[in-house]
Amino acid sequence: MENYNDIQKRILALKEEKGALILAHYYVPLDVQDIADIVGDSFEMAKRAKEAKEKLIVICGVRFMGESAKLLSPDKKVLIPAVDAGCPMADMVTPEDVRRLKAVHPDAAVMCYVNSSAAVKAECDICCTSSSALRIAKALDAEEIIFVPDIHLAEYTASKLPEKKFIFHTGFCPTHHRVTEADILAAKKAHPDAKVAVHPECRAEVTKLADFIGSTSEIIRFARETDAQEVLIGTEMEITARLQRELPDKRFYSVTSAFVCPNMKKVTLQAVLNCLENEEYEITIDKDEADAARHSLDKMVAC
Ligand code: 13P
Ligand code: SF4
Repeated sequence: MENYNDIQKRILALKEEKGALILAHYYVPLDVQDIADIVGDSFEMAKRAKEAKEKLIVICGVRFMGESAKLLSPDKKVLIPAVDAGCPMADMVTPEDVRRLKAVHPDAAVMCYVNSSAAVKAECDICCTSSSALRIAKALDAEEIIFVPDIHLAEYTASKLPEKKFIFHTGFCPTHHRVTEADILAAKKAHPDAKVAVHPECRAEVTKLADFIGSTSEIIRFARETDAQEVLIGTEMEITARLQRELPDKRFYSVTSAFVCPNMKKVTLQAVLNCLENEEYEITIDKDEADAARHSLDKMVAC
């Protein structure tokens, strides 16, 4: 306890008192990650939420992560600390978009990135995360796959499965999409001995220059295990900070200073404390919508 500041101690005491489980994503501020029971990528968070025994779950992340936890653990009270922490990529696809694509490609299986609303998940056959997209697309018993909303993750997955035909949507993550080939080339020039690890939400012109492509947890694993002493990190900056703190003998550099997800930064320690004190903001999902959406997430966790 002595390493925690006052607000962290108050959060941990309240967590204990209320028997809450705190799950955090790697993009929220490090001091919030430090008070979480589990820090993980989207897949690990979803899996842990499904297995949770606790009656109260606090999701330190953006809204779709809270919705996923609620869908997977419907009898639990699920809270998010920042009511306005959304994901712009999730907002780029609507249920109508999916219905339109299904009408044009009636034989295609429909896969949706977990970064989507419950209403969109309800229209899809199966969800995926960045760590499971390839495995799930490969396992699908369909030659054609509609993939929404992330065009970059879809293109990356399609490039590994030439035997399948992908139908893309036009969504993207503004934080990862902003990074260009020129940014990678400039970073490599500044750090010529560094390996490059990037997230598949990046453009193809960026992933093609990488030594490693993977989810946030997979990037962290790569950085720990590589013999390289310097690694350029092609995802949100909190990962760079976390790695530098954990592995001070190696050097980690963010590919660009623009690698920030502003929504994840809304999940501050103060917001987590308010969340536990007032038990807000609770995630609620319309029952019919939740019943329709749950199967696609359950299938993802089981696959
Ligand atoms: P992962 O943590 O699953 O790699 O996802 C990254 C992301 O952008 C979450 O919104
Ligand atoms: Fe959404 Fe991108 Fe932020 Fe992830 S990093 S939550 S995809 S905006």
